[in-house]
Amino acid sequence: MEGLFDKQAAMYLTCKARISKKMVFKACCSQPSPLFGLGHRHRKCPSYYRCCRALQAGDLSEEQLKHAVPHAQFHLSFLSEENSTLYPSRSKTLTVFKAVVYSEARPRYPSEWFSMLAALTPQHSVAWDVGTGNGQAAISVAEVYEKVIATDISDEQLKQAIPHPQVQYVHTPLEMSDDELVSLIGGENSVDLITAATAVQWFDLDRFYPIVKRVLRKPGGIIAVWCYGSVEFSPEIDAILRRFYDLGKPFQSQSFKIASQCYKTLPFPFESVGVGCEGKPLELDMHKVMSFQGLLKFLSSLPVVHIAKEQGVDLLPEELLKDFERAWGEPESVRTATYKTYMLAGKVKL
Ligand SMILES: C[S@@+](CC[C@H](N)C(=O)[O-])C[C@H]1O[C@@H](n2cnc3c(N)ncnc32)[C@H](O)[C@@H]1O
Repeated sequence: MEGLFDKQAAMYLTCKARISKKMVFKACCSQPSPLFGLGHRHRKCPSYYRCCRALQAGDLSEEQLKHAVPHAQFHLSFLSEENSTLYPSRSKTLTVFKAVVYSEARPRYPSEWFSMLAALTPQHSVAWDVGTGNGQAAISVAEVYEKVIATDISDEQLKQAIPHPQVQYVHTPLEMSDDELVSLIGGENSVDLITAATAVQWFDLDRFYPIVKRVLRKPGGIIAVWCYGSVEFSPEIDAILRRFYDLGKPFQSQSFKIASQCYKTLPFPFESVGVGCEGKPLELDMHKVMSFQGLLKFLSSLPVVHIAKEQGVDLLPEELLKDFERAWGEPESVRTATYKTYMLAGKVKL
């Protein structure tokens, strides 16, 4: 289960349907990671503690979840069915799998990446995670830096952010002035690490890079950006994925193209620190166990699908879904996805 979650992580989710002990047991045992825990019942699963690398705990009562016992190594996320689009079905079986679908649509980055970056900065006081989304990179940065300022232009994204005592989430609308942003982050020459996970391709780089140069500690601070492009499973599934990507080509935005070109065309005017350099990003693989529902959720969450839909084109037509289903095999089986990831890190040229 390497690469799925690098340390224990818990997500507390509300579930509408009543789920039997038998179903929980089956889910736990058939999928050693991630595991599901439902109220006190998860303790009934004998393999729970032995194989737990990630725990997703659900309960019918949101009130109960408000009193969930925090754990230092657990990342808590309180979600409700209403505010999540990751609950595609009301069937009992799929309700169990909803928790998986949530985490599957948003892969967690391996903790080794953050240790690798932390080893490149002499100080570990302040980090800035920009374009933080739901904070999944930010909470990992917080494992190796004392304080993380996690910013996003989208208030909606921040509402889904994973709480962490060392992470301060801040809404930074595009109208915010550069000076305001610099002072909010901590001022000139104050940040040890800047991360932009699957985000920098959306930024106005003429504006972003000068801010980076102002806030990074000099010498010593570094910026790291990365994105994942394609996802691979098996030759059969990958062939259908290529058909899907080809269908989407006419609808790719410039930002999507930069990511699908593996950041090779991304301007990156920083001095190399040994983790890729402009035009030559470091290739990293990220593994993740995924259900069939997770694959569908991942694909339908891609911006290109929404852009095509707005223009009246369905990139996930019934025929393609059937081919995916056939290639996947047993619908409840899980497979290991390999996300091809590309990273660039650098320091300010002095
Ligand atoms: C694909 S999401 C990535 C979220 C998260 N970092 C992750 O790894 O899952 C890109 C995020 O960048 C944010 N974003 C886009 N343009 C931005 C900007 N100029 N400044 C800050 N955030 C921005 C979006 O709102 C979105 O939350």
